[in-house]
Amino acid sequence: MVSNPIIAALDVSDADEALRLAERLAGAVGAVKIGKELFVTAGPDIVRRVRATGAAVFLDLKFHDIPNTVAKAVAAATRLDVQMLTIHTSGGADMMGAAEKAAQDAAAESGLEAPLVLGVTVLTSMDAEDLAGVGVHAEPAAQVERLARLAADSGLRGLVCSPLEIVRLREVLPRDVRLVTPGIRPADSSTQDQKRVMTPADAIRAGADWLVIGRPITQAADPRAAAEAILASLG
Ligand code: C5P
Repeated sequence: MVSNPIIAALDVSDADEALRLAERLAGAVGAVKIGKELFVTAGPDIVRRVRATGAAVFLDLKFHDIPNTVAKAVAAATRLDVQMLTIHTSGGADMMGAAEKAAQDAAAESGLEAPLVLGVTVLTSMDAEDLAGVGVHAEPAAQVERLARLAADSGLRGLVCSPLEIVRLREVLPRDVRLVTPGIRPADSSTQDQKRVMTPADAIRAGADWLVIGRPITQAADPRAAAEAILASLG
């Protein structure tokens, strides 16, 4: 197991609030996630400021574009010294291959470790009808599996998946592919808008490497204590 598999999602729009949260969580989580809202509001400087607290950064911008454009964006993110970032696997094999190569090349040029480029498969907001609407006539689970295999074949070393997909993906993917899983709720916490959740310990047992956890940490009276309790629950 990764020594601290908890990634706290800094889902706030205000840079100072995000920074305060990152400082409070320093050392208690394995990484923090910066998503679209915070990045678009606060810009790349928020990544530098959060990195300066010592936190590893997961930059969750889900790139999806032609291979050249995605490669340039991945290279730029790598130079920002993020440790994980996301791209859409539906961008295709060439796009994924270009993204992974860009991460490796930009890291080597900058003397940094290449970030883990994570593929996003089918958004959990989409059901079979939504997929049919965009011309994909497959069940979500089958499409997830198809895209996950394509990602691994294209050289990606990690994927984002829902808790319910972990077991199946572990059966079909090479063991060294890292799985990062949101939709995590400690047994005693509210599910909020998440519909299919798993406890941290169950997700790790099922084969997740990293757990993305937002509100159970960020909205706790003491976010640091909440993160520590989750880590302790992993045994
Ligand atoms: O607060 P909560 O723990 O639900 O936050 C989960 C985080 O993971 C959020 O940043 C959310 O956008 C992200 N996420 C998710 N489900 C997905 C993909 C990403 O909850 N399928």
